[in-house]
Amino acid sequence: SGPLSVGEFAKLLRKEASEVIRKLIPIGVMATINQEIDVDTMTLVAEEFGVTVIYKEEFDESNIEEIEEVDEKENLQERPPVVTIMGHVDHGKTTLLDKIRSTNVTSGEAGGITQHIGAYQVEISGKKITFLDTPGHAAFTTMRARGAEVTDITILVVAADDGVMPQTIEAINHAKAANVPIIVAVNKMDKLDANPDRIKQQLTEYGLVPEDWGGDTIFVPVSAINGEGMEDLLEMILLVSEVQELKANPDKRARGVVIEAELDKGRGAVATVLIQNGTLKVGDGIVAGNYFGKIRAMINDHGRRVKVAPPSMPVEILGLPDVPSAGDPFMVFDDEKKARAIADKRNQKQREEERGAKTRVTLDDLFKQI
Ligand code: GTP
Ligand code: MG
Repeated sequence: SGPLSVGEFAKLLRKEASEVIRKLIPIGVMATINQEIDVDTMTLVAEEFGVTVIYKEEFDESNIEEIEEVDEKENLQERPPVVTIMGHVDHGKTTLLDKIRSTNVTSGEAGGITQHIGAYQVEISGKKITFLDTPGHAAFTTMRARGAEVTDITILVVAADDGVMPQTIEAINHAKAANVPIIVAVNKMDKLDANPDRIKQQLTEYGLVPEDWGGDTIFVPVSAINGEGMEDLLEMILLVSEVQELKANPDKRARGVVIEAELDKGRGAVATVLIQNGTLKVGDGIVAGNYFGKIRAMINDHGRRVKVAPPSMPVEILGLPDVPSAGDPFMVFDDEKKARAIADKRNQKQREEERGAKTRVTLDDLFKQI
């Protein structure tokens, strides 16, 4: 952390510059408002005001989620939206995901659908959409807590025969906190007691006002059982994603997030990852969570081996020595030695944190009032 001028320092302390200048005199520093003072001096003065100075950490390369790489505009290309489905228990999230998937596979691929799917892609009129299955909101919450926002659009599923329930509200709060646009899928429209107007009424109280009532929230009546409204829903997803102008740079090392991971008896550690930027390739050396490994193989959502995975694509990766956690970031490194060191450091830090050691100071936390 470099020096600050007296004026800048005073602003951080929420004091007048003149007050700071006055505190500087007894420690032998005669300063003007524009003069720079060093960190030791700042510490002394801050203590006078009853403020503890916490030093900004040197940039730590093992915080791979914080490594920022700016992409030149000309290297950016459109990428598919990443969509999560949220909603109350039994309102039809899984049925909806299954329906979308089963009605949007080409015949050649049908046999390739694996039973368990953490994430998949479908193609609608030449455009891809990535769907994430995040059970119990857990992965979503963890990822957000770690600052790894992966969702571009949330589909809020509300059963038309049941209405707004606690987890519906929870989902709305999650999406709002993450600033993710919501599309409401009013599900179970095939039921005799379906009452979509009541859902609209209820959701209006949470700020989700339907377009036909003068608001800007898209409501799509659907039935995950008979497929009604499914095409409209997919079209609306594409519409919303177009407005977002989602872009990524496919011509660089990949980074992204672990969606789920497990230990497979035959294949070892298997992680489903979502590529957020760059392109992941077989043979790449990656740090995923606290582990370094070389990608031995990648398997797409149809159970087929692939050699490359571009932005927004979910793939299973093999080659990690151990199982990372859902929500962990991953990143490709060219320098294997460095990557191993970073993985070791991440591992060590996690163990320290588990032991209750002091957690890292964030960049904004240079000064903290006691
Ligand atoms: P959790 O994962 O437990 O939170 O539930 P979910 O939201 O994934 O609901 P799920 O898809 O498991 O559906 C719950 C029940 O509702 C099942 O019995 C489904 O068959 C039924 N269901 C889902 N969608 C529809 C629909 O559009 N119409 C009718 N009639 N039933 C539906
Ligand atoms: Mg479910």
